[in-house]
Amino acid sequence: MLLILPANSPGINHINRLIMALLPVLRYPDPRLHKKAAAVTLVDNSVRGLAADMLETMYAAPGIGLAATQVDVHKQLIVIDVSEDKSSPIVLINPEIVTRQGEMEGEEGCLSVPGIYETVKRAAHVSVRALNLDGKAIEFEADGLLSVCVQHEIDHLLGKVFVEYLSQLKQTRIKTRLAKQARITV
Ligand code: NI
Repeated sequence: MLLILPANSPGINHINRLIMALLPVLRYPDPRLHKKAAAVTLVDNSVRGLAADMLETMYAAPGIGLAATQVDVHKQLIVIDVSEDKSSPIVLINPEIVTRQGEMEGEEGCLSVPGIYETVKRAAHVSVRALNLDGKAIEFEADGLLSVCVQHEIDHLLGKVFVEYLSQLKQTRIKTRLAKQARITV
């Protein structure tokens, strides 16, 4: 649905909000989750609009990270917010991990693998390079939950879902469980 308001409408300040949309999230083992995302060549309004929709979708879920791959858009874009009060959205375009240090284990979940939480081994500390929403190059260091989240979301852009770090047996069990859930909710 398209919402058109006259330019002098009192609602005009909210128009950006009104035209945002919740996007459907692909569910594992959907093969589209294994597509590799292409680099974004131009950070324009369509990219900014996608980022806004992805943030909205992530907050609504609720989740702490979402990759474009999960909403069936195969561009290198991820959104993250690991703050307690959901006040610190991070949008990363063409993100890459420059250095990795140390090791940590933590329980992970994924909006594409609902109800499943498993322990995954990750680098404890990463430095990340990306473009921001202005198309400017940024670089930052991350540890703890932010480090895990960045690695998890960048994996999505490479076509990798976190359950693929688990044993074949566990992966099969998860697929069976999700297939049952899908039948119940349909
Ligand atoms: Ni995920």
